[in-house]
Amino acid sequence: MLARTVIGIAVLALVGCGGKSDSGSTTPTTKPAPDKPTPDTPPDPPASTADGKAAVAAQVKAGEKSYAENCSGCHGDNGQGKKKTPAVIGDAALPKDPLGKRKATFGTAADVLTYIAKTMPKDDPGGLSKDDYAAVLAFMLTKSGKQLTGKLDEASAAKIVLNE
Ligand code: HEC
Repeated sequence: MLARTVIGIAVLALVGCGGKSDSGSTTPTTKPAPDKPTPDTPPDPPASTADGKAAVAAQVKAGEKSYAENCSGCHGDNGQGKKKTPAVIGDAALPKDPLGKRKATFGTAADVLTYIAKTMPKDDPGGLSKDDYAAVLAFMLTKSGKQLTGKLDEASAAKIVLNE
């Protein structure tokens, strides 16, 4: 009788510990977010507001400029692609399945953001700032007819499904 009670308590204690370490291990994965916004950067307003619309428009405009400077030489002025480079703007652009040398799958805009930040411009990978990559992608998506509901960043890009 006593032995059973002791085992029961031991099991409970184990379960308790397991639960604790589980929740403990999920915390770090969600942690990076808080240290991202700097004190002088207020949260981005949603695009449904006038401020939000202006913020998205400004980002797209910056992206257009950066695209012209860093990407159009290879991908074409309108992102239509060239003989040896894939299109990056348009209905058929950025297909989900790997294309040519690309091994990454493009399910969401965040997948594309990660890919371009690592590999593009092809002759200078990682050469742009984080903001510039987001802006260029915001421009490419907008031009492709995608309606952005807020300024594009890693978090919002993860919610934009490009290819089901
Ligand atoms: C020097 C030429 C060159 C420049 C500049 C360049 N790219 Fe590329 N890009 C390529 C080539 C070539 C590929 C095909 C994959 C490969 O060969 O790595 C590609 C692939 C891509 C893809 C994947 C398309 C797909 O569907 O697979 C994206 C997205 C992309 N580039 C975006 C950009 C962006 C954004 C810029 C500017 C910041 C840029 N590229 C600048 C040559 C270039």
